[in-house]
Amino acid sequence: MTPLFLFRLILDLLAVSLLLAAFAYNWFGNAAHEIIGTAMFVLLISHNVFNRRWYGVVTKGWREPRSIFSKTITLCLLVMMVGLIITSVIISQTVFDFLSLRSSFIARQIHALIAYLVLLIAALHVGLQWSMIMRAVRQALQVEKNTRIQTVAMRGMAFLIAIYGIHSLFVIDIGPKLRMETAFSFRDFEAARAEFILRHAAIISLCAIISHYSLKLLGLYRRDRGAPGITR
Ligand code: HEM
Repeated sequence: MTPLFLFRLILDLLAVSLLLAAFAYNWFGNAAHEIIGTAMFVLLISHNVFNRRWYGVVTKGWREPRSIFSKTITLCLLVMMVGLIITSVIISQTVFDFLSLRSSFIARQIHALIAYLVLLIAALHVGLQWSMIMRAVRQALQVEKNTRIQTVAMRGMAFLIAIYGIHSLFVIDIGPKLRMETAFSFRDFEAARAEFILRHAAIISLCAIISHYSLKLLGLYRRDRGAPGITR
């Protein structure tokens, strides 16, 4: 793993952590929320600069199932992130307040709705890169290849995390949030900080697991049909 690749991985990890932290609005308060969110958007710009090659190949490979799957997820994420940035600027009370844009209840509701969609889609996006991330980690730790026992143990762990993630979808009440019914619920963060982080991390992991294994299944489908090489 090159130092630049490690640096990019650290920036991406930081971006995911900031995304998670932005959901603790009632915990940190408005000003911190806006600064955390803005910092995440800055990291997002660097992520896009480092991965600018994707824009050159996005129109290619739309016949191959794996490529369709990953490009659709990444395009959805791009659209949602743009929506999150726009609504953030509109409803800002601190960082972009100087722009004096008129906020509204519906803009704030859309902001929260898009935020939860971003959480789910960004996690799917992370899952797309999981094999590559694991390869890099193995290389850094100088582990040749997982043994059969390690593979079984990791799959078992992924299964347990996925179950906890499904349960967390109900505990966090994600359904009503996506229907904009209770987008601005006020949770007791003092009482449940650790649980808040664990639940959101489990939801991120669940979506990442779904996309990682879907991509693997689509790979099997491709191999069965003997199709040529893939593009991400
Ligand atoms: C990582 C990016 C972001 C995410 C995931 C996010 C997510 C959210 C969520 C989920 C809420 C609802 C909080 C609740 O439970 O009550 C919220 C509220 C809010 N966000 Fe963000 N946000 C992000 C970035 C930003 C940025 C950059 C700004 C402004 C510069 C901003 C401004 C606001 C404001 C003003 C509210 C409160 C709306 C109200 O008055 O009811 N957000 N955000």
